This record gives sequence, C-alpha cells and structure tokens, in this order.
Amino acid sequence: MTKSLDAQKKAAAEAAAALIQPGMVVGLGTGSTAAWFVKALAIRSLDIVGVATSQATEDLAVSLGMRVMSLDEAGRIDLTVDGADEIGPGLALIKGGGAALLREKLVWEASRRCVVIADAAKSVPVLGQFALPIEVVAFGHTTTARRICDALEDCNIKAVPSLRLRGDVPLRTDGGNLIYDAACGTIRDPSALADALKSVTGVVDHGLFLDLADEALLGGEGDVLRLLP
Ligand code: A5P
Repeated sequence: MTKSLDAQKKAAAEAAAALIQPGMVVGLGTGSTAAWFVKALAIRSLDIVGVATSQATEDLAVSLGMRVMSLDEAGRIDLTVDGADEIGPGLALIKGGGAALLREKLVWEASRRCVVIADAAKSVPVLGQFALPIEVVAFGHTTTARRICDALEDCNIKAVPSLRLRGDVPLRTDGGNLIYDAACGTIRDPSALADALKSVTGVVDHGLFLDLADEALLGGEGDVLRLLP
C-alpha cells in the first residue's frame, strides 16, 4: 500500500519531534508538515518553549497547551523544525508557500540548528518548479515587481511575478506585506538569484533558504530518510 503525502509528512514530523529534549527553545515552522510537528511535540508534553514562525502556528501551539514566546523574548533558539516547498541539492530550499517566509527566515537564522521536514516529493534535483515567493512592501509594489523582473532577467530567468491573492484581494503576510510568486522554471544559481533579489529596494525577503538547513527528514514509502547538506 502506498503512503499518502500526509502520512509521509506526519512520519517526518514525528521523527523530528523525537529530537526535542526538555529545556529546549524550539522554532516552530509553518505549513501542514510543521503543524504535524507541533502536534507530535505537544503529545510529548515536554518542558519546552516554542517560538512560532506565524500567527497560525502560534494559535495551534497555544491551543495544544504549549508555551510560546516571541523571538526577542526567547533570545536563543536551540532547534527549529519547519517544512519546505522544494528541497534541492545541498539542502537549498524554496519556502514561503504558506506566506510565512519572513518570520521563518528570522527564526531559522537565529537558530543553532535547523531541521527541514517534508514528504519525499519535495526533494528535487534542481530548484525552481515551485514558484518562488518574494515578499515586498505594499508601497509602490507594482514598480517593485517590474524591478524584480529585471533582477530575474539578470539571472537569465524569464518570469513575470504574480501578486498572490487571497480570494479577490491581495494576500497580506503577518507583517502586513505582499507576496509575488515568480515561476522561475529552473534556478541554476540560487545564490546569485538570492543576492539579485535582495538588492531590489522594496523586496523584504524571498523564499530561497540557502546554507540554513542542517538536516532534512523526508517521509517516504519506507523509513524516514535523513539527508545532510
Ligand atoms: C510556509 O510559508 C512555508 O515555508 C511552508 O513551510 C512550506 O510551504 C511547506 O508547507 P507544507 O508543509 O504545507 O507543504
């Protein structure tokens, strides 16, 4: 019998929850896989503090009785566990499908160790099939989008970023910003693209998470697979 994607996500999440020790400050990711992690962690009833990467994750953790602090209150994070939209070579990631990339990156960068959890289908030979989320400030966003196009072109990527909607209106992130999604196709040089996007004024951040993941736990048909960069 084949395992459903949800069962694969749950298996990866449970393997990650087993890594958590009492007393840890734990970064809590966002998305369906991270939600399985929060649930698996709550079942263990450990004395830990969570730092949530989105309001949705905070609400879930609090509803399950977990102690949650802001990033600044916690001061340090021992281990962050989060999902991803694509996992490429060297554990380079695309994240932000759930619009939480900014808080996620802030938490990941403040963490001693980061573990990405996903179903096996998220592992790809080259990044770019999943449209890259780019978070921008609302002021002048269509102008910023044109400049993003130029930055993509400088990286030999032809893509017209599209404004993400929720229903009929532009989606607002937890930080009040907007998201453009760029269907890049193939990202041959993620690091050059990351630099090019960051150099556009109005871009707050993007979903490329490079050199941040220490380990990936992938659910699949059999045992959870552990990948290192
Ligand atoms: C949230 O902004 C994202 O980075 C998620 O971590 C990513 O979209 C993975 O989500 P799923 O676990 O729901 O696939």
